[in-house]
Amino acid sequence: MNNFQVKLAARPKGMVQKSDFSFERNPRPEAGPGQVLVKILYASLDPAMRGWMNEGDTYIPAIRLGDVVRAGIVGKVISSQHPDFPVGTYITGPLGIQEYAVSDGRNITKINPALAPLSNFLGILGIAGLTAYFAFLGVGKPQAGETVVVSGAAGAVGTVVGQLALLKGCRVVGIAGGPDKCAHLVQNLGFDAAIDYKNEDLSARLKETCPQGVDIYFDNVGGEILDTTLLHVNQKARIVACGAISQYNSTQPYGLKNYFVIITKRVRLEGMIVIDYARQYGEGILQMAQWMQEGKLKTYEHIDQGIEGFYETFMRLFTGDKLGKLILQIAEEE
Ligand SMILES: NC(=O)c1ccc[n+]([C@@H]2O[C@H](COP(=O)([O-])OP(=O)(O)OC[C@H]3O[C@@H](n4cnc5c(N)ncnc54)[C@H](OP(=O)(O)O)[C@@H]3O)[C@@H](O)[C@H]2O)c1
Repeated sequence: MNNFQVKLAARPKGMVQKSDFSFERNPRPEAGPGQVLVKILYASLDPAMRGWMNEGDTYIPAIRLGDVVRAGIVGKVISSQHPDFPVGTYITGPLGIQEYAVSDGRNITKINPALAPLSNFLGILGIAGLTAYFAFLGVGKPQAGETVVVSGAAGAVGTVVGQLALLKGCRVVGIAGGPDKCAHLVQNLGFDAAIDYKNEDLSARLKETCPQGVDIYFDNVGGEILDTTLLHVNQKARIVACGAISQYNSTQPYGLKNYFVIITKRVRLEGMIVIDYARQYGEGILQMAQWMQEGKLKTYEHIDQGIEGFYETFMRLFTGDKLGKLILQIAEEE
């Protein structure tokens, strides 16, 4: 019995290379006393994984060289010596890019497959959706009638932020790469407007699509898009600093030129890390599952099959060649 595993072989310099990983077939582990053996079905591919590959700890420890690449997964318990997780239990947790993993139960959580399709627990009902929920509602504090701009708008977090903003009665403008993603945001998700940052003049389009100025900017990308959007914010605007994917592979970080706007416009720019809300995850999942069932929230996923294709799928995060939440299916659901 084999266990295919993807391990970190080298710390990427700039853009991630395939040679930064090793692809190994190792013996399948077994559950010992107090442990479970999990068959991994889906893995979540997240921009944050790129940061964990760097030297040095951030809000969580870096992945050690030679370790399995850390990733959130959904899996099924197939052998158990743990009373809380009998065989057949579906779980989620950071068990990494591999076919099987052993857990002592402390880093996994049960999920209810009756609530939604299993892959949704890595997307809208997983870290991405929970980030959108707690960051936008908790940090952004939207009020009906306000103008919200979200970057990375056609991605896992951005798609949910935009829909939550609509639910709260805001005017919503998304920033995304390419005409197809922009059309999707307006036609399928009901955004008021979308800006194609790859082909349009961002500043001119922000002026045009946000005639009352920007009250909340939900930033998933950082860099030049953040800098340009700063020029369009209103007095007392809130900027939710959620991510900075434009910088994750950069060897020369972008320096903000319009920083002074934060002072003159009395802007509140606040960073957030979703794990700070871990105790409230259950509440967020139930609320969003209810909104999904009521047809108020839609979800889009790009699912690639096969652990061997990990690198090619992971790269979609940086090329943008995907819509919604990026997921790698590692095994078939039975
Ligand atoms: N703070 C937290 O706790 C937390 C938790 C989860 C995620 N995040 C952050 O939230 C952000 C979104 O995460 P996600 O999971 O929803 O990823 P995602 O948006 O589903 O995927 C990444 C998207 O980023 C866009 N992108 C890639 N390179 C870019 C660049 N140079 N400039 C502008 N856009 C670029 C691409 O879309 P286009 O085709 O539109 O370019 C790509 O599809 C990331 O920065 C992530 O690190 C933070």
